[in-house]
Amino acid sequence: MPAFTATTPGKIILFAEHAVVYGEPAVAAPVHSLQARAVVNARVNGNPGQIWIEAPDISLSAPFINLNDNHPLRAAIKAVLGDRDPTQTPACRIHVSSTIPRASGLGSSAAISAATIRAFSAFLGQRLTDQEVSDLAFVVEIIHHGTPSGIDNTVVAHQKPVYYRKGAPLQLLPISAPFLILIADTGVPGKTREAVDGVRKKWLNDPEKINRIFSNIGLISEAAKDLIKSGSTKQLGPLMDQNHQLLKELGVSTPLLDHLVQTARDHGALGAKMSGGGFGGHLIALVEEGNETIGEKLVLAGASTSMITPVENRDLIS
Ligand code: MEV
Repeated sequence: MPAFTATTPGKIILFAEHAVVYGEPAVAAPVHSLQARAVVNARVNGNPGQIWIEAPDISLSAPFINLNDNHPLRAAIKAVLGDRDPTQTPACRIHVSSTIPRASGLGSSAAISAATIRAFSAFLGQRLTDQEVSDLAFVVEIIHHGTPSGIDNTVVAHQKPVYYRKGAPLQLLPISAPFLILIADTGVPGKTREAVDGVRKKWLNDPEKINRIFSNIGLISEAAKDLIKSGSTKQLGPLMDQNHQLLKELGVSTPLLDHLVQTARDHGALGAKMSGGGFGGHLIALVEEGNETIGEKLVLAGASTSMITPVENRDLIS
């Protein structure tokens, strides 16, 4: 029996993290050079129900039934099993790995869930649509993040740039003119759940002020979508700067993120912002061909790593 393999990219949020949790539109794109991968092999000598999970990145090698109820990999498998009796599932080994740095805001948890869900469902003979993979991965995201907007699972499952509004039908975002985004990691683990909780506290304390910030972020996202559609991508830079300022006002940036964002701008980035949940994690900068060396400047200024990813349309063979 062949192995069933699925790979899923990482993601960056270009505009409107946090505000997206409150219904504002956001723009996000996959990062194809970072990948989560799940490989499912049948265990020919195993008995039905023997599902073994291997995830060397987190030193995990155990039967599925031994994992805690709220373990994300258990949740991903249970999401696929649905009403099926796990004890009747053909014996298999699920190997999960990822090159997406964890806790960096790059979608590692959603990508691992989506890859596991896609490969395991294929092993069971069920070919899921991208939207079905996304919906099942969303269930796992709730375990990770509490009140996710659904943007991470949507981007990684569809593997395409999206204009996303919570609860609304999916809108893929065609890229008229590809552009380059530099991603730099602070090396400080991001804390999405804490950041989302912190924003909620602020919102409960002063809904008028925080709603105003959210709707300004939503307007930025809307403008960004139009620029991306029309190919006027250079103008995204100032929008990134404005979005970063509003994220600072929400209290989810850090002095290191602010410093690196400023360093990127000082060295020629057209705009820069933190990206993802914040309290650490990564920042993104809009760069042009020829000024990719900004990444080196960021590492000298305290970033742990930097890389460049194109934001473009990709025809994927699925
Ligand atoms: C996390 O990648 C983005 C947040 O907006 C949370 C979410 O949308 O679920 C911070």
